[in-house]
Amino acid sequence: MSASEDDPENESQANGDAAPEAPGAGGLEFIVWDEDRMGTGVASIDEQHKELFRHLNELYRAHRAGLNRRDLDKILRFFSHYAETHFHHEEEVMEERQCPLRHENRLAHAKFLRDYQQLVEDFSTDEDADQIATEIEKMAGQWLSTHICRVDAALRDCPAIVPKAGDPGTS
Ligand SMILES: [Fe+2]
Repeated sequence: MSASEDDPENESQANGDAAPEAPGAGGLEFIVWDEDRMGTGVASIDEQHKELFRHLNELYRAHRAGLNRRDLDKILRFFSHYAETHFHHEEEVMEERQCPLRHENRLAHAKFLRDYQQLVEDFSTDEDADQIATEIEKMAGQWLSTHICRVDAALRDCPAIVPKAGDPGTS
């Protein structure tokens, strides 16, 4: 079986270790899931996208609640790790389905990770960590919403390719 939406291993790979808890979490939502615009029709990818939103909301709340720099740094690095694992899974699914946007998707992921990781480095070394955390939230939030709606949602039009009887390798 290929790495499809039904493979539970993909979920566990992306879940990984837990990020630090935000104190005084409250109900603040920085970024909100919109099924109609963001749903890809691939359950594992939608779940991972929702998880990315949860982590970003957690970062936003932790930042507003005044969590210390070291713990914010852990949340930032956890997000990067989760995003990387998710991108890998999504790229495999797009490749399997021969989605026309698969190359653009791969390039966009690589650029996002470079930009994000640079900002996280700045966060850990720069004096104005507070301002950089705000910049990271904005950048990641805008990028995720736009990218999911414009690129990932193309998966809706790319059904899984089922090998037909008689195709090489199906005998
Ligand atoms: Fe993507």
